[in-house]
Amino acid sequence: MCYELYKLGIEMDEKLVITCECAPNIALIKYWGKSDDDLIIPLNSSISITLDYRVLNSRTTVELIKKNDLSNLGAKIYIDLNEASEEFFENDSNVPVKELINRKRLLKMLHKVRSNCGLDDALSYDIRISSRNNFPTACGLASSASGLACLAYCLSKIFKYQGNTAELARIGSGSACRSIFGGFVCWHAGDGTSSTSISTQLFPSSHWPELNVLILVLEDQKKSISSTDGMKDSVRTSDLLKDRVRLVEEKRLSEMQEAIKKKDFGALACLTMRDSNTFHAVCLDTYPPLFYLNDKSKTIIRFVDEFNKMNKENSSSTTPTLAYTFDAGPNAFLLVEDTHLVQCLYLIGQVFYNGELTDSLISVDSDLREKLKSYQCPDMSKWREMFKRANFISKQVVKTVIHSKVGDDIPCTNSLSD
Ligand code: PMV
Repeated sequence: MCYELYKLGIEMDEKLVITCECAPNIALIKYWGKSDDDLIIPLNSSISITLDYRVLNSRTTVELIKKNDLSNLGAKIYIDLNEASEEFFENDSNVPVKELINRKRLLKMLHKVRSNCGLDDALSYDIRISSRNNFPTACGLASSASGLACLAYCLSKIFKYQGNTAELARIGSGSACRSIFGGFVCWHAGDGTSSTSISTQLFPSSHWPELNVLILVLEDQKKSISSTDGMKDSVRTSDLLKDRVRLVEEKRLSEMQEAIKKKDFGALACLTMRDSNTFHAVCLDTYPPLFYLNDKSKTIIRFVDEFNKMNKENSSSTTPTLAYTFDAGPNAFLLVEDTHLVQCLYLIGQVFYNGELTDSLISVDSDLREKLKSYQCPDMSKWREMFKRANFISKQVVKTVIHSKVGDDIPCTNSLSD
């Protein structure tokens, strides 16, 4: 954790305030299906990488405001979320159905944090939560993970929570518990109890600085079926899900840990792509079927395959140099090491992007645009032949490309001055 900027809640005018930023995470071995819907305990453990909060983040501020009178309606909760707002009393059952944040889960987090905290008079505060994402919400870019991790972190710090922050985040949104840490993270299924289903960091971001993640935004509209509803249907109807859980638990998790430990990109790439494919196979095996991938997603899968074949022809390497993975949405996450990053970006720009990719690329690396601008792709005629053969002629596939490295731990700021 990065505590350098953090000073525990400043008290001024009966108000405590904390702000933090937190990044989404992308699962290499995915979670799909719960053994406990209420506590959000997964059927299988999962492994993810946390992205760099400097490019993709949720920023959340939590304020505790001393109540004037202690009403039996409990705390008043104000929510400001990506330019929409609402307020309600925690014990008021007559609240409108529309919810900006899942109220049941939020109240569960609050209850947990206040019942095991080091703050005097924890029940004597109203609570203001303001949060915004700097990227499109609910289109498969893991916005709930970063948002709820941020909220859990803020609540945990401001109330001086004595329990596990990752457990708190998990109650807000399952995969959020992995965003509590930077680097490579495992969310353990545990023994089915809440306190054992927590996340831990496997390796810090510094373990593999040559690894890059490219987020290809193909669609920025809200997805049709949320992961919560989708996975409930899968648990109810998919036979394949049980086999996937077994495969992940018995084989893939340990193989993935080993691949990360050895920084074996080929092994990581194969496992990541196969796990993404198995996850989407479970989605298709669900009834009614869940179609998270669209034609653009499938075009990107074919591109990755062709890229790997071409690079094999051009060198002695026999392992993939590029990998894809897709969450519950059509957008693609590509993994690539530094050696092939610019080549990959250049080709994506040539074939799938309408305009100059250099102008709109969002990146943590300020030199990347220049590198891309001056890049001369060897054997371009061969690549052109491949584009033609594979029928990759649409310039409208990719809307935006975001480049990230594996990110660090959460930064947290005292925000009275923000
Ligand atoms: O935590 P949720 O409800 O956002 O579910 C996330 C599910 C996947 O993104 C598809 C897989 C994963 O492990 O992140």
